[in-house]
Amino acid sequence: MRKIPSNGNLKMTKVAYPLGLLVSLFIYVAYIKWHWASATQAFFSITEVATGARRGQQARTALGTAARGHEVFYGIMFDAGSTGTRVHVFQFTRQPRGTPTLTHETFKALKPGLSAYADDVEKSTPGIQELLDVAKQDIPFDFWKATPLVLKATAGLRLLPGEKAQKLLEKVKEVFKASPFLVGDDCVSIMNGTDEGVSAWITINFLTGSLETPGRSSVGMLDLGGGSTQITFLPRVEGTLHTSPPGHLTSLQMFNRTYKLYSYSYLGLGLMSARLAILGGVEGTPAADGKELVSPCLSPSFKGEWEHAEITYRISGQKAVNLHELCASRVSEILRNQVHRVAEVKDVDFYAFSYYYDLAANVGLIDAEKGGSLIVGDFEIAAKYVCRTVETQPQSSPFLCMDLTYVSLLLREFGFPGNKVLKLTRKIDNVETSWALGAAFHYIDSLNSRKSRAS
Ligand SMILES: *[C@@H]1O[C@H](CO)[C@@H](O)[C@H](O)[C@H]1NC(C)=O
Ligand SMILES: *[C@@H]1O[C@H](CO)[C@@H](O)[C@H](O)[C@H]1NC(C)=O
Repeated sequence: MRKIPSNGNLKMTKVAYPLGLLVSLFIYVAYIKWHWASATQAFFSITEVATGARRGQQARTALGTAARGHEVFYGIMFDAGSTGTRVHVFQFTRQPRGTPTLTHETFKALKPGLSAYADDVEKSTPGIQELLDVAKQDIPFDFWKATPLVLKATAGLRLLPGEKAQKLLEKVKEVFKASPFLVGDDCVSIMNGTDEGVSAWITINFLTGSLETPGRSSVGMLDLGGGSTQITFLPRVEGTLHTSPPGHLTSLQMFNRTYKLYSYSYLGLGLMSARLAILGGVEGTPAADGKELVSPCLSPSFKGEWEHAEITYRISGQKAVNLHELCASRVSEILRNQVHRVAEVKDVDFYAFSYYYDLAANVGLIDAEKGGSLIVGDFEIAAKYVCRTVETQPQSSPFLCMDLTYVSLLLREFGFPGNKVLKLTRKIDNVETSWALGAAFHYIDSLNSRKSRAS
């Protein structure tokens, strides 16, 4: 309410009015200045920390840089496998203008796998929450908003009918969106074999340091799972690029570079699927009339049952003059024309994982804890030895002769000579060599480059 000034006050008003205005202006300016300063200070200290990880090199986190001269950022990767779900919380550190290194990893696993909730997706929530709590405990509060949260599913969900898998993933996405972490629209997905192989390739090349130094030769990756087997490496020979069949080359963007990788996943050539094929069974189909599957790769006196993909098969060995020879010719039939051979693989350093490791450790070719190196021919020597032994005495592991014979011939099919050295390991620098690290790292890198393209 304003008073209408009377004539007697007019003189006074003439002075007081500008004075009042000046005072209010002063108070206003002082207020704004103080308020702006404290507000922006608070704003910057939050967003710098929060966006630092995403902006990568251009914006070092206020805390990280000021205090220790390096930037710290995190990534959360959920690995939704067929038997369980696992969370990995990765902490990376980057020196100014340097390549990030992994400085800490926390993980926790829960059983059963997501696919167990296919018919009641609500029930999947408590497990996801429990794993999210691990991430919350591990990552400082200030970093939550900037830390990407991702779930990638493998075999288990790949096998579910599309609609069921989609419903499960939608549920997970809903739970993720309600979390305090950085959640994009692409936060949940199902990986195919190539994605898995490429991510594992990133993991080992990140851990061996070959991504840091352009030009330093990279290492290749061999993986042998139950259902499929993967080979991934970076070709350096033009001929490899030109002669690769369609679908065997894939392009990968990392650190502002493009890698043209050779990567292929052979479905049905994983160790368990191969066993079934060698036994003469058909994937997903019980033997007709419960017929026994007979194989020269089992001990001649062996009779038993074997479960694969929820079907139980009756299996038995057969008499043979030379078990290994007969087994090898059966395995060769299975592998004939299945694998694309690349001449260049003999010149690339390869790491081999999963069943390659387990089998080699099982027969003492490598240390079961520390891993080690072997030559491809060692698998063949072991196969011959084991097959000869089971001819006369049944073994505690009835499949060992078959598995070793299969692995030795599979590696030959890929084009590895007998004297080719392979490295078998579960850990490099004490970090587990799973695809999860590479996938998390690549995801963070792609956020960074999207961000720098946008700005
Ligand atoms: C695997 O999935 C990726 C996308 O995640 C796609 O680019 C690629 O073509 C797929 N590869 C195969 C062999 O299906
Ligand atoms: C990425 O590479 C391109 C071309 O090589 C270069 O112009 C650009 O500056 C690079 N960006 C970063 C962030 O290094």
